[in-house]
Amino acid sequence: MSEVISIANQKGGVGKTTTAVNLAASLAERGKKVLLLDIDPQSNATTSLGFNRSDYEFNIYHVLIGTKKLSEVVLKTGIKNLSLAPSNIGLVGIEKEFYNPKKKNRELILKEKIKEVSKKFDFIIIDSPPALGPITINALSASDSVIIPIQCEFFALEGLAQLLNTVSLLKKTINPKLKIKGFLPTMYSGQNNLSKQVLADLSHHFKDKLFHLKKAKECIVVPRNVKIAESPSFGKPVTHYATSSKGSIAYRDLATVIARG
Ligand SMILES: Nc1ncnc2c1ncn2[C@@H]1O[C@H](COP(=O)(O)OP(=O)(O)OP(=O)(O)O)[C@@H](O)[C@H]1O
Ligand SMILES: [Mg+2]
Repeated sequence: MSEVISIANQKGGVGKTTTAVNLAASLAERGKKVLLLDIDPQSNATTSLGFNRSDYEFNIYHVLIGTKKLSEVVLKTGIKNLSLAPSNIGLVGIEKEFYNPKKKNRELILKEKIKEVSKKFDFIIIDSPPALGPITINALSASDSVIIPIQCEFFALEGLAQLLNTVSLLKKTINPKLKIKGFLPTMYSGQNNLSKQVLADLSHHFKDKLFHLKKAKECIVVPRNVKIAESPSFGKPVTHYATSSKGSIAYRDLATVIARG
């Protein structure tokens, strides 16, 4: 059975997609069979891997409305061991469906669909949209755990309480196994005092929930790195676009921790 991990934070632009794509690619590089599941209507994870709309006819929307099986929309990427379930702007329409209070178990639609491919992958990494709406709830309900990227900027922790409350509510109700895998500080800049302050706050409040390589004193932090920002326009994860960049190293370290279990 695959381990399902959502990358979530309702704040926009904090590094969810970057983390989903590069964690998925780094796990694949380690020989794990990985499905990157894009459930954000913005489709940024899909385009980050070099796919555009004309490359695929069906996407995760068709899976969620039940006209296609998940295995029927999965695409092979150029990266060994890495597959992609693409998204599309049409996914916006699913929100209405998911909000329909008459629809039974509407939080569990994705979980049901994932079962079909669960034996084929070691990891399913879900990139979720910047909202705590029904799409993210479906992602969290289908997951074993969630990784929360935190941008090392002002307002970083704003809204975090709401996300943590949602996770804890889901845990008490429909998904008792849901865990917070950890917080990942992103876009960290060593020259910026604000970055340092956010990291200090995170270490203070969530020390046990930061990621550490074995024996390492410092937690894993994704630096602000130009190669990371450039890589989506080349349709590649940074781990393939600039393999030895600082950004690649951070995401490989994260994969090391995740693969260790
Ligand atoms: N460590 C980094 N260094 C430099 N740029 C980064 C880094 N991480 C992400 N970015 C850039 O910041 C922008 C936002 O990142 P990303 O798309 O991963 O955030 P997101 O949380 O998925 O956004 P959204 O909420 O819109 O889905 C992108 O342009 C991305 O390339
Ligand atoms: Mg995104």
